Amino acid sequence: MAIIYHVKSNVFQLDGKNSTYLIGVYDNKFVTSLYYGKKLEILKPERLSVIRELGFSPSPNDYFYQRSVSLDTLPQECPSFGYGDFRIPAITIEQNDGSRCVDLRYKSYEILSEKPQITGMPSLRDDGNCDTLKITLKDELTSVEVDLYYNVYNDRDVITRHMVIRNEGNEEVRVTKAMSCSFDLRDNNFNFLQLVGTHCEERHIETTPLRHGITKIESRRTSSSHMLNPFMALLRKDTTEDVGEVYGINLVYSGSYEGCIEVDQRHTTRLQMGISSFDFEWPLKAKEQFETPEVVMVYSANGLNAMSLQFHDLYNDCLLKKHYHHPIVVNNWEATYFGFDEEKLDKLVGAAKGLGIETFVLDDGWFGKRNNDECSLGDWIVNKDKLPNGLQGVADICKKNGLKFGLWFEPEMISIDSDLYRAHPDYAIALKGREHLHSRCQMVLDLSRKEVCDYVIKAMSDVIDNVDISYIKWDFNRNITETYSKQLSHKYVLGLYYILETLTSKYPNIMIEGCSGGGGRFDPAMLYYTPQIWTSDDSDAIERLFIQYGTSLVYPPTTMVGHVSVTPNHQTGRVTPFKTRGIVAMSANFGYELNPQVLSEQERELVRQQTHEYKHLRKLIYKSDFYRLRSPFGGNDCAWSFVSKNKNDVYVMYVRILNAATNEFDWLKLKGLHPNRIYQNVETKEKFTGSELMNAGILLPRHPYDFNGLMYHFKVVKE
Ligand code: GLA
Repeated sequence: MAIIYHVKSNVFQLDGKNSTYLIGVYDNKFVTSLYYGKKLEILKPERLSVIRELGFSPSPNDYFYQRSVSLDTLPQECPSFGYGDFRIPAITIEQNDGSRCVDLRYKSYEILSEKPQITGMPSLRDDGNCDTLKITLKDELTSVEVDLYYNVYNDRDVITRHMVIRNEGNEEVRVTKAMSCSFDLRDNNFNFLQLVGTHCEERHIETTPLRHGITKIESRRTSSSHMLNPFMALLRKDTTEDVGEVYGINLVYSGSYEGCIEVDQRHTTRLQMGISSFDFEWPLKAKEQFETPEVVMVYSANGLNAMSLQFHDLYNDCLLKKHYHHPIVVNNWEATYFGFDEEKLDKLVGAAKGLGIETFVLDDGWFGKRNNDECSLGDWIVNKDKLPNGLQGVADICKKNGLKFGLWFEPEMISIDSDLYRAHPDYAIALKGREHLHSRCQMVLDLSRKEVCDYVIKAMSDVIDNVDISYIKWDFNRNITETYSKQLSHKYVLGLYYILETLTSKYPNIMIEGCSGGGGRFDPAMLYYTPQIWTSDDSDAIERLFIQYGTSLVYPPTTMVGHVSVTPNHQTGRVTPFKTRGIVAMSANFGYELNPQVLSEQERELVRQQTHEYKHLRKLIYKSDFYRLRSPFGGNDCAWSFVSKNKNDVYVMYVRILNAATNEFDWLKLKGLHPNRIYQNVETKEKFTGSELMNAGILLPRHPYDFNGLMYHFKVVKE
């Protein structure tokens, strides 16, 4: 049992594989954060619960003569606003008399052997060795109760949390802030790491010293966003990829969110994450409840790479649905944009035949009268001018060439120039009396309304039921404005999950690739439904080094999509070798974003080699340890590797960015191998011990030009 209740000291001990989380109940009243870090054997846990008086920190009435007791200085697991704690609250509840204060006190606990699921939102599965602690707090005056859930994965260093707010009183209250987790660490000796970006430049790593006051990441876009991924980490100042403590947290949610860190006057650090409290209010009538999304907390004592391995294994085992086949695709977006017809597709798909590509994905432009991005979203009816034999005609072309068929949708959108808008203008999110706001000339369907969600399900089902498709690319190309109520944003996200839940249950064999102008909604909740995501609209191999490296901090390579596109690259104008583009794209779910007709015979041969190699590599990507070997951030090269779980099969990808005339000796050291086994380079047949590859390294060759990419494959020949 990984959850121990120390009766005498009233302390809950949550043990992971190498970590411990201690929760106290001070004076049987206040639920406090006592410790989070390396695994502890502790004789007197109550020793960690310390109070010291501090000026200007108020005490509750029951502590009139004990000024040292203050919610402002107690480390807390569920802090609220207005009753003594001046730091950021995890929960705020407005009452009919205008008060926003609740005095949440410990009521009871329960240890559950089943991990509870969250209603209407994705959450992680139990891995068969998971225990759950539920702590209930109560505010006497309003009878509002709060359940704090802690799911402990006993064989990992992972705790997932969420909270449920229950109105057990008789009067309506309004929840205006409800974090999925909040906890206080005992010091502030940290750096702060976040994943920042923009369209075509997602999830770049940014690390800054943690300062006093509040540090915040947030999205107000009803999307987890290109700009700030719902992930943040605290790192000890000496932490690197391989050593040092890291606390990483990631929200399983696709809408507006916030992650806050506050360093207070006593230099302690509060961390919390949940739905954004900006423009949020959720009424709770008597006996109603509100559930927050789940947050994933990972602790590593051995640097960032070890944190990432925890996230990767957890998401591969307990988040992603396993039965999907992730094919090698060719997608026509950068090949044709809107300018295609059946004849052109016939040639394009025909040219893909025999190259080892498995699926053709028809991108935007096949429906309504969509020849540009100004119309037809919502009209999911095939354009017969372009495709006279309908979608089945394209499916037949694919079949004839030995490929499967995938199709692009942007289901959450509506164009003003669409039959859908003409019939149901009210389906678009809008503000009464104000002109529409457009982004990429489109508006968003109001998924907070069930009938609109049902329209989307029906429109998509009508297409899916009538054509052989095995794959959908689900796009989302704008963010949400005109949020006409404080519930809209969260209700929208719940509507989206309802649609995705319905469609993935109805069509369990169709794999959905997520997309939002590339990686604008790359979060664990989307991954639950769309197990791979088009990682960025920037397909340039060099920019992808940064994007894929940053993404790998949290998300396993199994979730990323990389395609080889033409040069000059359509986003950056950069010219990179075909081989390098392949090496970067093969580090994810692999494919091509080009018209195979434009390939030279030499390039076609390279494609055959790449798809052949990838079919072996793919098995490894799905069950391996991913090691970051060199960071492109601040460097001039990048390297990573995939090491099979039994350590016998290893792929190493290396890209040098700009070349130099100097012929230096550059040794690339590998990680995660077995030191005593003999590894053979599959291509050159040269043999090395694991310890040599890890400690002395491989001597990299002299690079012939900029953007040189290298891939090494080692296999154990002697255990
Ligand atoms: C988004 C996607 C692209 C492509 C276009 C189509 O930008 O990220 O891959 O599908 O939409 O309009």
